[in-house]
Amino acid sequence: MITNLDQICDAAADRGEQIQRKILHHLGHTHHQKTLPDVTIQRAAELLGVSISQIRALEANGRFPQPRTRRSGVITQRIYNYNEVNRLRDILGERPGRPTDTAHINVTFSNLKGGVAKTTHAIHCAQYLALHGYRVLFVDADPQATATSTFGILPDIDLDESDNLAPVMLDSGDRIDQVVKKTYWGNLDLIPASLSLQRVDLLIARENPETAQRLGSPLLRFRAALNRIADNYDIVVVDTPPALGMLSLNAIAAANLLIIPIEPHMFSLGSSVQYFRILRDVISRHRDSIGVQRVNMLLTRVDENSPETQGVIKLLTSAYGGMCLSNHMSLSRELQRAATDHVGLYEIEQPRGSRETFTRAMQMMDRVNAAILGQIRSLWESTVPAKSDQTEKPSVLDDVI
Ligand SMILES: Nc1ncnc2c1ncn2[C@@H]1O[C@H](COP(=O)(O)OP(=O)(O)O)[C@@H](O)[C@H]1O
Ligand SMILES: [Mg+2]
Repeated sequence: MITNLDQICDAAADRGEQIQRKILHHLGHTHHQKTLPDVTIQRAAELLGVSISQIRALEANGRFPQPRTRRSGVITQRIYNYNEVNRLRDILGERPGRPTDTAHINVTFSNLKGGVAKTTHAIHCAQYLALHGYRVLFVDADPQATATSTFGILPDIDLDESDNLAPVMLDSGDRIDQVVKKTYWGNLDLIPASLSLQRVDLLIARENPETAQRLGSPLLRFRAALNRIADNYDIVVVDTPPALGMLSLNAIAAANLLIIPIEPHMFSLGSSVQYFRILRDVISRHRDSIGVQRVNMLLTRVDENSPETQGVIKLLTSAYGGMCLSNHMSLSRELQRAATDHVGLYEIEQPRGSRETFTRAMQMMDRVNAAILGQIRSLWESTVPAKSDQTEKPSVLDDVI
């Protein structure tokens, strides 16, 4: 045992902090607010569910605002970003949302293991829902804060120690209002994470009885706090750390739809068994308080060229059958590159690799997210009272068809 370990730790932390400050100083000069990509009129039309000529006609007759343009060689192209597309949806009266009389749906990505694409899919799911017009809150409950930095926020530069879920879990649920940040997506807000979140487990374990009494069950604090702001959103997407600690368990307790990303490897089967056993244990102790309505497994990082992988997929689907989402995500170079650049696929204007690889990755990601949206909609449908008089609203499009 080293006798001066405390001094060694202090000195290492001091030296590390000095270097970190220098790096942050440098980054501070190069770190800019992120913005949304520009998309073409084709993509805008696809997202709006109208034709290009309808968009042009609505712009010509003044119902739509004049679009921005950019030069591409000799031609001038109309360009739009997702916030603008959402404003056009509002004009058309075609903005999707949750049905009247239904609550927000909380989608939580969870697994005991790291590296199974929880963060990747949580980010892409949230951005897909936002670009389709839903009001989304993304909650980063992982102290590693990978998702937070993908949204262009560097915890060490842009955030205070308490700009995360910690005060909500340790002080008062009322503080959830203060930790929600706007992002460059008009309809996607973020509760960011930072490393200091890591102390939540320890501090909850050390709570004195009065505080514990005041704050209520440690597993249900996030859910209670979320309910205070949930009216502002259609869907809440939560990314969790690779462990079933207090943060993950709070996220699970708040979830309606639990998505378990899983890589098709032999050892994944064992860890998923472990996961379900722990989850069952938690649920049996808090049955009345846990709101999970549906559990789906999502096969990720699937190596299409490996015969072994195909064998494992068969095993996993025979074990979990109906729980598996209908679409999976294959290994994709484009997704790897995107992660290195801290962007989501939906934020890329010019792919770094070939257009073909990029399109393939986008199509797969779209299909996975469409399957998740299908689950969300069916949860809404199962709670909404059937409407008898569905009268058609007149559409702005009627003028230009
Ligand atoms: N389909 C995929 N193809 C290639 N790389 C992927 C894919 N999905 C995720 N990755 C990469 O795998 C790594 C782990 O993903 P991540 O989402 O951070 O996992 P987790 O949140 O479960 O720890 C990241 O580098 C990510 O870019
Ligand atoms: Mg992660």
